[in-house]
Amino acid sequence: MPIPGVPNSSRPVRLIALMNQKGGVGKTTTTVNLAAAIARTGRPTLVVDMDPQAHASIALGVDPTAASHTVYDLLIGTPTPQLAASAVHDVGNNLFVLPSHTDLAATESELAMAPDRLQRMERVLAAFEGRFEFVLIDCPPSLGLLTLNALAAAREVLIPMQAHFLALQGVGKLLETVRALAVGPTAINPRLKVAGVVLCMHDTSSTHTKEVVADLDGFFEAARGQDVPWKMARVFRPAIRRNIKLAECPSFGKTIFDYAPLATGAEDYKALADVFVRDWDAFLSARGIVIEKKREAPIVETRSSVPVESSSLESPRG
Ligand SMILES: Nc1ncnc2c1ncn2[C@@H]1O[C@H](COP(=O)(O)OP(=O)(O)O)[C@@H](O)[C@H]1O
Ligand SMILES: [Mg+2]
Repeated sequence: MPIPGVPNSSRPVRLIALMNQKGGVGKTTTTVNLAAAIARTGRPTLVVDMDPQAHASIALGVDPTAASHTVYDLLIGTPTPQLAASAVHDVGNNLFVLPSHTDLAATESELAMAPDRLQRMERVLAAFEGRFEFVLIDCPPSLGLLTLNALAAAREVLIPMQAHFLALQGVGKLLETVRALAVGPTAINPRLKVAGVVLCMHDTSSTHTKEVVADLDGFFEAARGQDVPWKMARVFRPAIRRNIKLAECPSFGKTIFDYAPLATGAEDYKALADVFVRDWDAFLSARGIVIEKKREAPIVETRSSVPVESSSLESPRG
């Protein structure tokens, strides 16, 4: 079986790990729905589920207990193109998922003595080279071996979080972890950068929330020009508003675009995806890399619906 995705050996890939050691902040919701929105712009997109809880797999309609091969087999075994192909599920509209399995929790101890234990994910992704334009890795809520593997393989870290005062401290710890992995003689991934923060379950009306967002903006502004992996980082706009439809859709194995395409959750993730796609296209064109124009998949399926004007949802810093 050929590896799914669109073969193009020269295709560069945008490799993003979604990470926050805290649980319940919106990592999986953002991985799944941001990936779905990017995929719907015509970019072959892979979700890698690195969490033994397999929430991203389930949210994309894949039963991890029934999957013949999962990310676990690829991390533990030899990730041949054949094994990689058999593990990936095509969930439609250019979106693919490499599912997780509860066995993944055993990886920490099984790989503990392996000299290449931090490079396993990099090996797995090498088996997919040229197939996907975007790869989004959903990390577990810890800083263990699975998350470290994701960070060793990724080029960018995206931090889903809620705009609460205490969450700021967690972000500080997380940034220091990224720095330890990216800078210095023991760095395992010197190319790793922090893309920024996605605000999840956002309450636009709260004064406290606005203060926290202003603090975050100020923090990242102050890092410009410094020699830190977050010197280019920003708080992405739009924030993802709290929307019950986003909490409902995983139990149907659907993304927000299939479950409730007119919900604010769909609007926000589409607008956020447009920022990621636009930045990526600008990055590619600055390097003279031309990717053929692709067909836009319809994101809003009903005739009477009104397409979202993404520009009206973004701040100038976008
Ligand atoms: N914008 C949102 N509005 C409402 N509920 C949300 C939103 N984002 C996430 N949730 C819900 O919050 C819970 C935690 O989100 P999840 O993405 O699973 O976090 P994590 O992966 O960081 O543990 C889930 O029940 C999810 O459905
Ligand atoms: Mg999760």
